[in-house]
Amino acid sequence: MNQTKQVVLNSPLDMHLHFREGVMAQTVIPLSSYSFAGGVVMPNLVPVVNNLERLQGYIKEIKSIIGKDVFEPYMTLFFKEYSYQELEQLKPYILGVKLYPAGVTTNSEDGVAALSKAEATIKHLEELEIPLMIHGETHGFVMDREKLFLPIFEHLAQKFPQLKIIMEHITTADAVSLLNNYEHLYATVTLHHLIITLDDLAGGLLRPHLFCKPIAKRPEDREALVNAAINAHPKLMFGSDSAPHPIDKKEACGCAAGIFTAPIALQALVELFEQHNAIANLQGFVSDNAQRIYNITPPQKSVTLEPVAYKVPAMYGEVVPMFANQELPWSITQVR
Ligand code: DOR
Ligand code: ZN
Repeated sequence: MNQTKQVVLNSPLDMHLHFREGVMAQTVIPLSSYSFAGGVVMPNLVPVVNNLERLQGYIKEIKSIIGKDVFEPYMTLFFKEYSYQELEQLKPYILGVKLYPAGVTTNSEDGVAALSKAEATIKHLEELEIPLMIHGETHGFVMDREKLFLPIFEHLAQKFPQLKIIMEHITTADAVSLLNNYEHLYATVTLHHLIITLDDLAGGLLRPHLFCKPIAKRPEDREALVNAAINAHPKLMFGSDSAPHPIDKKEACGCAAGIFTAPIALQALVELFEQHNAIANLQGFVSDNAQRIYNITPPQKSVTLEPVAYKVPAMYGEVVPMFANQELPWSITQVR
C-alpha cells in the first residue's frame, strides 16, 4: 500500500554554488531559484569577482535571471589583498570572502600563493565581522590535500579568534572532527560527498561527471559526513557546490572538476535522510543551521516533496546533471 507522506522544507538554502555567467547562468540559475530560497554564489569567474564594479555587475545579471522567483543570492568576493576601506565599502553587498589557494581548482589561478601575505586582509575581515570561506586543499597528494590543509585551519582559528571561518565542501572524517575543536569554525558539505566515494568515480569505468575538487574520498569519510549531516550537526550546513561545466569540458581528455547537482539536490537529500530515518533533521541541515551561523533571514518559501518518481533529464542546456537519465524516488510537488 502506498503511504501518503510529504516533506515540507521551509526556505531551503544552498550555502555554496556556482552560477557562472552568460548563457550558462541563464541555464542554471532558474534551477536553483525555483527550489531554494537562497544560495551562496561563488566568485571564481573569469575574471574573478574581486571589486565593487564586477560585483555589482554580477549581482545585476543574477537578479535579472532570477526575475520573479523568490531567491536571495548571497554574494561572495574572491580573496585578494584588500584594504580595510575597500572591505568596508564592499561589506553591504556580500556574505563573505572566499579564499582559494592558488591553482587548487577551477579558475583559482589568482588565489593565495602565500598565506603570510594574506593575513593583513584576514585581520580586516575579523575586525569587520566578515566571514571567511575557504577552499581547504593543499597541493599535496590528491587524496590527502584536505587533511594536509587542516593545520592551516587550526592556525587561522587560533590567530583570528573572532573570525567566522567556514571550511567549504569538507570531504573527510578528520575535517568533521576538527569542527568540534574551535567554536568559530564551521563547514559546508555537498550532496555528492554524502553519496559517492572515490570508487564511484574511478573504481570501474571512469565517470567524468562525478569528478570534482576536493575529490571524493573513502567510505569511512563518507560515513562521518553522513552522520554529521543526518544529525544536523549544528556547525554543518548544506552547500551543493553545484558546478556546471559544458559536456565537452567534462567528456574530454582533461576533464573539468565539478558536479552539477542544483536541479536534483533537494530530491536526493530527502531520499538520503529518509534512508537514515532522519527526515526530522533535514530542515536544520538545509536551512536552520545556516540561518543561525550566518545570522541571515532568507525569504519565506515552502518547498514540498512527495514520494513520486522523478526522471532526471539527460541534460540541462549543455550540462549533464548528477543522476542524468535516472529515476529518483522523490519529486518536488509544490513551491510556495
Ligand atoms: O569541483 C569543483 N568545481 N570544485 C571547485 O572547487 C570549483 C568548482 C568549479 O568552479 O567548477
Ligand atoms: Zn565550489
